Amino acid sequence: MERTKFGIQGLDKALMGGIPNGNLVLLSGGAGTGKSTLCMQFLINGASLFGEKALYISTEQNLDELHKHASAFGWDLKKLEEKNLLRIIFFDITHGANFLKEVDAVIKEFQPKRVAIDSMTTLTDALIIGGMGEKSEFSLVQVVETVSPIPRTEQIIAKSILYKLISELKKYKLTTILTSELYEESKRLSADGITEFIADGVMLMHYIEIGVGDYRSLEVRKMRYSDYDKDIIPYDITPKGIVIMEEPK
Ligand SMILES: Nc1ncnc2c1ncn2[C@@H]1O[C@H](COP(=O)(O)OP(=O)(O)O)[C@@H](O)[C@H]1O
Ligand SMILES: [Mg+2]
Repeated sequence: MERTKFGIQGLDKALMGGIPNGNLVLLSGGAGTGKSTLCMQFLINGASLFGEKALYISTEQNLDELHKHASAFGWDLKKLEEKNLLRIIFFDITHGANFLKEVDAVIKEFQPKRVAIDSMTTLTDALIIGGMGEKSEFSLVQVVETVSPIPRTEQIIAKSILYKLISELKKYKLTTILTSELYEESKRLSADGITEFIADGVMLMHYIEIGVGDYRSLEVRKMRYSDYDKDIIPYDITPKGIVIMEEPK
């Protein structure tokens, strides 16, 4: 099986070599767990180590903020962009909901091998609100037409919108990471409680403080078409990015 590597030692091993090609993986965790950083590493390593074209679709950090984030780790996004190995687009959620159209255009033109969408939470919140509008690609009428004509609550409609969004993204058969904000006490794997079922894979990032120390760990919860390490994987965010710590002997 062909796999897409993170290029992060320990993580690729836990995934038996990487994410099976074409899988759409949900990366879920609380604020500050390192989701955006891991997305960046996934894309930068893909481009610089494996020569694979990488697309970053950001809905939270704008282009300046992303460049600043990367340079704090010593990563030069500009260089990879100039080599046409990396493309970064910022989708401003306050500017309506032509998300799929924009994504479709950039994927067809750029033809990436790997994609990260950071974050799904901001995007779906915006689409759900904007999605009720007449002009939106996720108009209420369109969504309701695809479901049975029984009364729908807002939540079910929101789930239909999300389902459509993810189904559309899956059609590209690109290895894709979607980030999702997870609240501390949440028992669900994603903010919306549905993405984990549609996604081919789920990876959770945890951050806990115990006494004076804080601990970061990662966990693979689901990965279709592959076996994976079920253990908790301790990691650290270092000045060189996310590093998987040696397993204690
Ligand atoms: N240069 C750096 N060196 C070490 N750790 C850093 C550096 N820059 C950021 N961090 C850590 O990364 C965290 C932010 O990670 P980020 O990927 O933005 O998280 P998320 O997207 O999950 O909210 C910060 O809270 C900080 O702990
Ligand atoms: Mg982030």
